[in-house]
Amino acid sequence: MRHCIYPGTFDPITYGHLDVLGRAAKLFDRVTVAVADNPGKRPLFSSAERISLLEANVAMFGNVTVIPFDGLLVDFCVAQHADAIIRGLRALSDFEFEFNMALMNRHLKPKVETIFVMPNEQFSYTSSSLVKQVAKYGGDVSHFVPPNVAAALKQAYA
Ligand code: COA
Repeated sequence: MRHCIYPGTFDPITYGHLDVLGRAAKLFDRVTVAVADNPGKRPLFSSAERISLLEANVAMFGNVTVIPFDGLLVDFCVAQHADAIIRGLRALSDFEFEFNMALMNRHLKPKVETIFVMPNEQFSYTSSSLVKQVAKYGGDVSHFVPPNVAAALKQAYA
């Protein structure tokens, strides 16, 4: 049973995240989406809201669960008996941050492997912050986020 963790803040989930998740769900028997509380990022949505927005969109995969986490990601991986961390590389600009994080995680727990996948290029410029900015000023975000997220953004900025 191969199990991977897909960690992030997911404030909110985008089609880019779901693209990565779809690839992870094919590669692994089980995927756990680990939603970081991440108060440092001052998320728009609470952890419970981010989880609920995610849950509505992962049911289609059949092997994905969503749970909150705080503390060190590698400790969470060990506690969950996960084989790997999966991360998306959208563009070259992601590389340095991801490389450092993967090496630090490997230093902390050598047995937890990090695996990178490339989301579809149509999502290479998507980020949760940009989506929030567009939504805040009334722009159309339907190309980037599922309908439940678009509705939640509309309500949050009403
Ligand atoms: N599609 C769309 N957007 C994507 C994306 C994709 N495939 N992949 C990443 N992004 C966006 C995210 O939406 C996010 O956008 P934002 O900054 O505008 O909100 C941005 O890229 C960064 O996302 P990500 O790299 O997933 O960072 P994060 O802040 O969401 O999560 C953690 C980082 C939680 C994984 C990391 O901080 C962590 O592991 N924390 C736990 C503490 C720990 O162990 N620290 C030591 C790590 S070495």
